[in-house]
Amino acid sequence: KGAGHHDRQPPFLRHMIVRAACRAGLGLWLLLALACAADAPARSPAEIMDILMWNREPVGGPFELIDHTGHTRTERDFRGQLMLVYFGFTFCPDVCPTDLQAIGLTLDKLGKDGDSVQPLFVSVDPERDTPEHLAEYVPMFHPRLIGLTGSAEAIRKAADAYKVYYAKIPATQNASEYTVDHTAFIYLMDREGNYLGFFPPGTSAERMVEIIRPRLAEP
Ligand code: NI
Repeated sequence: KGAGHHDRQPPFLRHMIVRAACRAGLGLWLLLALACAADAPARSPAEIMDILMWNREPVGGPFELIDHTGHTRTERDFRGQLMLVYFGFTFCPDVCPTDLQAIGLTLDKLGKDGDSVQPLFVSVDPERDTPEHLAEYVPMFHPRLIGLTGSAEAIRKAADAYKVYYAKIPATQNASEYTVDHTAFIYLMDREGNYLGFFPPGTSAERMVEIIRPRLAEP
């Protein structure tokens, strides 16, 4: 009789994680990712969700990447500014553009105060997202948005630090094409590069302004 109780707990927990993922608009992505486990990185999306939801591990840290003008950038370049860090890829049909638009709008709404917020778009598709390609993409969302790319290793390292899940998924019709499944959280970092929290995908600019503005008043 005792076994039943213990057997029920893991599915319940799993259900909670899936429900949280769905609330964040990630249900389909999670199912896709689970179906393509062969191409998945070390940690599953559910593990990543769990770490972020319950603050189980530190988020953020050092990175060394190439910006859309071809210059090497590290996290130290943005000390003294709040950072809005978003991982995605330029071929993303829907989620990335929507969130990048919200980030651009957030900066517009912050006005002059927004100058001490640095938005960063880190590509999880370095193969296609060259600095040149990023240079055509990021200005569509905001003139101050910096696009970052780099070697596959440098991207994986940055993504691991930020607890970002991503995996290359071959397209069903054409073997030479692929898409990239990825978590789409917008990370807010303080002036020293410490993690303050994340905005789920689909967060409105109004909500981001509400959270960011009080932080700007702090030294
Ligand atoms: Ni995307």
